[in-house]
Amino acid sequence: MEPSKPDYCTFFGKIHGILMYKDFMKYWDDVETFQARPDDIVIATYPKSGTTWVSEIVYMICKEGDVEKCKEDVIFNRIPYLECRKENLMNGVKQLKQMASPRVVKTHLPVELLPASFWEKNCKVIYLCRNAKDVVVSYYYFFRMITAHPDPGSFQEFVEKFMDGQVPYGSWYKHAKSWWEKRKNPHVLFLFYEDMKEDIRKEVIKVMQFLGRQPTEELVDKIVQHTSFQEMKNNPSTNYTTVPDEIMNQKVSPFMRKGIAGD
Ligand code: A3P
Repeated sequence: MEPSKPDYCTFFGKIHGILMYKDFMKYWDDVETFQARPDDIVIATYPKSGTTWVSEIVYMICKEGDVEKCKEDVIFNRIPYLECRKENLMNGVKQLKQMASPRVVKTHLPVELLPASFWEKNCKVIYLCRNAKDVVVSYYYFFRMITAHPDPGSFQEFVEKFMDGQVPYGSWYKHAKSWWEKRKNPHVLFLFYEDMKEDIRKEVIKVMQFLGRQPTEELVDKIVQHTSFQEMKNNPSTNYTTVPDEIMNQKVSPFMRKGIAGD
């Protein structure tokens, strides 16, 4: 029997007006007061925008294309999810504090909620934006496969919630806009999922240059190959198959679902 899904209203609350997981909100002080280090690299996205894809690209760049190093641990240990918290089970802030530099940090926070320390330390931030229609489709399937998420209702109902900002991390429109306005900041690189689909080499080179790395042909080839949808779908360190079904039921929908633009 499928475990019952929690109620929408009891599961989410609001932080500075933005819908958020109540579990995360309980310890929000830890997020707000997070101490960045100057060599931190932040990956910021609205959920379901290709976070895992760009994360693996950045990690490959940091490890100079060493695939074995990328496979040493699952992506959510290599690149902790800053604001993720569930009592003693998940704690992104703690993971990051214990990590040696240079750290790669994953976050879904809009500009106004990003801990101030990242700006004060001039950390490099990569924002990946994906078109809202593909995000809402991906988010809908994600809601269904995460056992602890409330029932998203019909797709039509979910689209209405999404357009109304009544999903975790609030309005896609405001989120994307908040980061778009930062795109001229030299410490911010604004990317589009659709550009990555169209010409991945070009976008990988862009990321490497932003991170001050030399984009040699051999290294770019390796990164493109290792981070293709098919490779990442078959790679247990990026496909989330190590997470038990009771938490993430990939029989309902795989994490690496379609990976296309225009679904
Ligand atoms: P779909 O559900 O549309 O397939 P996030 O990592 O932010 O949760 O985003 C997940 C989305 O990114 C999923 O979209 C997933 O398939 C897609 N994705 C992950 N890795 C990808 C890759 N290497 N190439 C293209 N899309 C990828």
